[in-house]
Amino acid sequence: MTTVIASVPMNVNVRPTVPAGAMPGPPADPSQTVEATRDTSLWWKSAVVYQIYPRSFADANGDGVGDLAGIIERLDHVRALGADTIWISPIYRSPMADAGYDISDYCDVDPVFGSLADADRLIGEAHARGLRVLLDFVPNHTSDQHPWFIESRSSRDNPKRDWYIWRDQPNDWRAALGAGSAWTWDEATGQYYLHLFLPQQPDLNWRNPEVVQAMHGVLRFWLDRGVDGFRIDVAHCTGKDPTFADHPRCLAGEPLADFNDDPYSHEVLRGIRKLVDSYPGDRVLVGEVNIRSTATVVQYYGAGDELHMSFNFPPLDAPWDPVVFRTCIREVDALLQPAQAWPTWVLSNHDNERHRTRYGGSMRRARAAAVMLLTLRGTPFIFQGEELGLEDVVVEPGQRVDPGGRDGPRGPIPWDFAPPHGWRAARTWLPFPPEAAALSVQTQWSQPSSMLHLYRTLIETRRASPALRLGSWEELPSPPEVLAYCRRHGDDERVVCINFAERPLPIDLEGDWRVAIDSLPEGLDRRFDGMLQPEQAVLLEPLHRPRPQPQQQRQPLQP
Ligand code: GLC
Repeated sequence: MTTVIASVPMNVNVRPTVPAGAMPGPPADPSQTVEATRDTSLWWKSAVVYQIYPRSFADANGDGVGDLAGIIERLDHVRALGADTIWISPIYRSPMADAGYDISDYCDVDPVFGSLADADRLIGEAHARGLRVLLDFVPNHTSDQHPWFIESRSSRDNPKRDWYIWRDQPNDWRAALGAGSAWTWDEATGQYYLHLFLPQQPDLNWRNPEVVQAMHGVLRFWLDRGVDGFRIDVAHCTGKDPTFADHPRCLAGEPLADFNDDPYSHEVLRGIRKLVDSYPGDRVLVGEVNIRSTATVVQYYGAGDELHMSFNFPPLDAPWDPVVFRTCIREVDALLQPAQAWPTWVLSNHDNERHRTRYGGSMRRARAAAVMLLTLRGTPFIFQGEELGLEDVVVEPGQRVDPGGRDGPRGPIPWDFAPPHGWRAARTWLPFPPEAAALSVQTQWSQPSSMLHLYRTLIETRRASPALRLGSWEELPSPPEVLAYCRRHGDDERVVCINFAERPLPIDLEGDWRVAIDSLPEGLDRRFDGMLQPEQAVLLEPLHRPRPQPQQQRQPLQP
């Protein structure tokens, strides 16, 4: 194949477009930030976010579970990949009934991951490398071991009783993660408490002002330590129907968290937004609004006073199907653009089957999908390991850990070719994903045609192109099994064509184009001849665009 690297334009800044003084770190290199200073848009619009699932990223202390010191050791991987922001799934003290999404102390780090000092070091080390840090904020529920809940359940007249949601009678609401009723009977005090997830995750009552104050205190605690924002867990769940009416969808077996949409959640978000906006440096909120309706998701941007960005999850379930993607992308464009709501794109995360597995295990499709993910209008989120083309772990019944059956995407990252793949324990908490040696980071850095280099090149190209970062999106005429679109910003223009079919298909484009990135090893820097190979995606540049001068090019970075 191909030397994907050599043909990429490298004439522009490679640092995140960060407003001056917003982030601690090394002094900016003026030669690299010329474009950044011209770019008046917000940093998170140009960001490429990399999700770190700390249990499975890297293990420094050799206990087989990833930790913060491990993340620090591997930050250079993220930097070499070219992502500029990390979102770290929960690191707080937790009994781990839901892998850290059941928190017993929001203001401390669980010993399995390290200490508060490690968290401070991680924030500092990330910033020193030009990486921003988002933490996971879990507002809807605590652990049942949180001192607040222990107090709340201690008696009906405890001052914290009303910090949670207690009722004499349950309704039909169902919990997620297969947990059955969303109500659990508390024998000692003779009432039911609400939990939209596991019984070990009681829901906080955000209508109580003391809860609001305490949770705002949690946000301040981390903002004061320098984090650049938060991913908000189930951001649509904090408000609940105050009448507690039965819901027919629950009767039909759906968990409430899949569609809960009470106006009070918006009030909660407005409060959080106000707080976050009071900090310098454009801190950001990206919410998990886990409702499969883009029209509903848009509402969570408010009037620019709720979420800065919301996940929009239809692509996370989508099979390799042009109709599904076309519909979803058109819908995002039609609904978010008029609302001035900035889109996000996600193909995989820690809760859902990895997309390569979802696409039938096809690396070819996963490579084409990478071209799409990194060229759509909006902020892309990469789930650790997708840049390696990892598939889901095969977990035998006796090895299952997650009560919700979501172990598949959570396998450890294989760093080195040889077992134990850069982990220091004889046994990791979950087995490695299939093909761990061949797909390891070490192996892929040495292969210019690897998925890792494809991601790296895409990110670098995106960063260098105002059209790809911030430009308009316009669909182009194409055969039904091809998705083609144009991105434009000023005189910067790119075209992307993705052939979903298993056969070659032609596409008729106006003008002359050259292939800047190819999902297949077809050879680059060639004139595009209008033919797309089966399941191939190409990123095209106008043929007569001035090429970067050699002195402006830089060597690809390796950790
Ligand atoms: C979110 C998290 C998921 C967790 C749930 C409850 O959906 O992504 O992992 O189980 O919220 O906190």
